Amino acid sequence: MQEKINQLVKEAKKEIESIGNLNDLNLLKSKYLGKKSEFNQFMKELKNLPNEEKPKVGQMINKAKNEINDHIQIKKETIEQEKINKQLEQETIDISLPGKSMPVGKKHILTQTIEEIEDIFIGLGYEIKEGPEQEEDKYNFEMLNLPKDHPARDMQDSLYISEDSLLRTHTSPVQVRTLLENADKKPVKIIAPGTVYRKDDDDQTHSHQFKQVEVLVVDRLASLSDLKGTLLIAAQKLFGAEREIRLRPSYFPFTEPSVEVDVSCYQCHGKGCSMCKNTGWIEVLGAGMVNKNVLKACGYDPEEFQGFAIGFGVERIAMLKHGIDDIRQLYTNDLRFNSQF
Ligand code: PHE
Repeated sequence: MQEKINQLVKEAKKEIESIGNLNDLNLLKSKYLGKKSEFNQFMKELKNLPNEEKPKVGQMINKAKNEINDHIQIKKETIEQEKINKQLEQETIDISLPGKSMPVGKKHILTQTIEEIEDIFIGLGYEIKEGPEQEEDKYNFEMLNLPKDHPARDMQDSLYISEDSLLRTHTSPVQVRTLLENADKKPVKIIAPGTVYRKDDDDQTHSHQFKQVEVLVVDRLASLSDLKGTLLIAAQKLFGAEREIRLRPSYFPFTEPSVEVDVSCYQCHGKGCSMCKNTGWIEVLGAGMVNKNVLKACGYDPEEFQGFAIGFGVERIAMLKHGIDDIRQLYTNDLRFNSQF
């Protein structure tokens, strides 16, 4: 029997060596070590041997089985390792390949423009203020020197919510709120960005909803020349260092005198082109010295205090700066448009 066992181990080793995949190896395992294997047969025949030989032969069979099992185990590991090596070879990562780019969102051009204006004024020592979009009539009109039935209320077609509350038609009510809050009459130097609403039909240049940035300075000495200097700095920061400004008389009920502010055309440098309608100047905003009636209404003595206010139309600035010819593009959220800026 010893002969037979040795012979079988030899055969098994040879066969194991020739195997190339795990499936065949498993089949081989059951062939040599399974229930129907020859070794199992030997075990069954043990009982026919004389008693003194039984342990010796039993040990021999077990030793042979273990030897075969070890060989199978080693072969299994070799096959698995080869598989991994092959995979590694085929699936090498090319670290020089460009990565997949993830689309990154960015701020809307109107937000960018507001932040640009804010940065200019923060640099000049201004604070940022906010007011509600649903505003009381008295702040939006009355205390800004626009009493009921004042014809200038027609300048701003309003969306009323109740008798005395409306969607604010401009950011100027933040002037009133700021002055009223300032009980100890410290110098006021604020800007107030925000959304405003008017009962307008939307077209290329009108939107029922748009954005303004209000500027307000009230102090004992703030003068028209301070306003002019401030406007020049803002215009040059927004439209280029060589820009000049021009003030034209205008009318707003809450400022006196009131001015319309033009910037020298940055496209033709004042020579005249389609951008500036051949005038060399582009109208950009309204401003003026705070009307005495506004100061009084807010508890300020106009003999002691004075100041100036500016109203930026954010869409207009953005459209001029970036050559946008239809205000509606700023509100349709077309990514092809938005992502250009
Ligand atoms: N509130 C004015 C408007 O909406 C703009 C403005 C603000 C004008 C401040 C002068 C001073 O048209």
